[in-house]
Amino acid sequence: MRSLMPLPSSPIGVFDSGVGGLSVLRALRAALPYERFVYLADSANAPYGERGDPYVGARTHAITQYLREQHHIKALVVACNTATAAAIHEVRASHPDLPLVGLEPAVKPALAVTRTGRVGVIGTRGTLTSSKFAKLLASLESQADFVVQPCDGLAHAIERSVNLPEPPAGNAVTVCATETGALCERYIRAMGDFGTAPGQIDTLVLGCTHYIFVAHELRALVGAGVQFIETGEAVARQTRRLLEAAGLLRASACTLVGTGDAGSDDTPSAAPDTLLLTTGPVDMLQAAAHRWLGLPADCCATVAVP
Ligand code: DGL
Repeated sequence: MRSLMPLPSSPIGVFDSGVGGLSVLRALRAALPYERFVYLADSANAPYGERGDPYVGARTHAITQYLREQHHIKALVVACNTATAAAIHEVRASHPDLPLVGLEPAVKPALAVTRTGRVGVIGTRGTLTSSKFAKLLASLESQADFVVQPCDGLAHAIERSVNLPEPPAGNAVTVCATETGALCERYIRAMGDFGTAPGQIDTLVLGCTHYIFVAHELRALVGAGVQFIETGEAVARQTRRLLEAAGLLRASACTLVGTGDAGSDDTPSAAPDTLLLTTGPVDMLQAAAHRWLGLPADCCATVAVP
């Protein structure tokens, strides 16, 4: 497919089934402060985790087309482990010219930090039953014991929770009073013992971008000594590397690097640095943007992506 030649000042597209990918956007904005971003939350169709590959693949394809055609993105971050597992290979094949970053549960980094050799992995059913994840795990199985737990319903509960008042930081008893807390409790308890003693799970991989937003609830359940591993910062580093390699990194507000065909694009853009779009209710995205990124409501809009 043809689209306008991307420029260093073109935005980076970021998408997720819903608001979870805002955790990745937060890391991207911190690491790449001069870039512009268009985030798309497919909240009308969330959650993806229990939908199956054909559905998730079709949504991923439609959203990639939309972001290229309507926003002329210069790169795409699929800030969703489930969509990456289901469809990244197809997106790569259909858009070979688009710098593309996907996410997968960070089990390799977990190996570097575990001391007990017992690593927990939580994610959606779609991610954790994918052939991509099976291959990843098979390549590392001899190096640690992995306790893998799909968390049906948790991403959806997190979506629903964004309009609720922020839960107080608490202990395991108060945490379980919320819907997200009750689900966290059910899945964490099913995984066995957490802690730093021999035989306990001392490292927990958050294999779904939504789960960072219940880190305080998970923490209350597993205790202070357990390390959480997520991918936001690594994704931001990889995005920077790809942009540099493509000559598309925006290194300062108006100084451009590696202009190539984009040489005339040397003025700062008046466009807002972050635009947040959703296929679902805008008030939910506004609440999440305010709560998790400190962004104002007027950054957000609802769009149709059939
Ligand atoms: N945030 C997504 C992920 O990282 C998907 C959650 C969902 O839609 O089920 O997998």
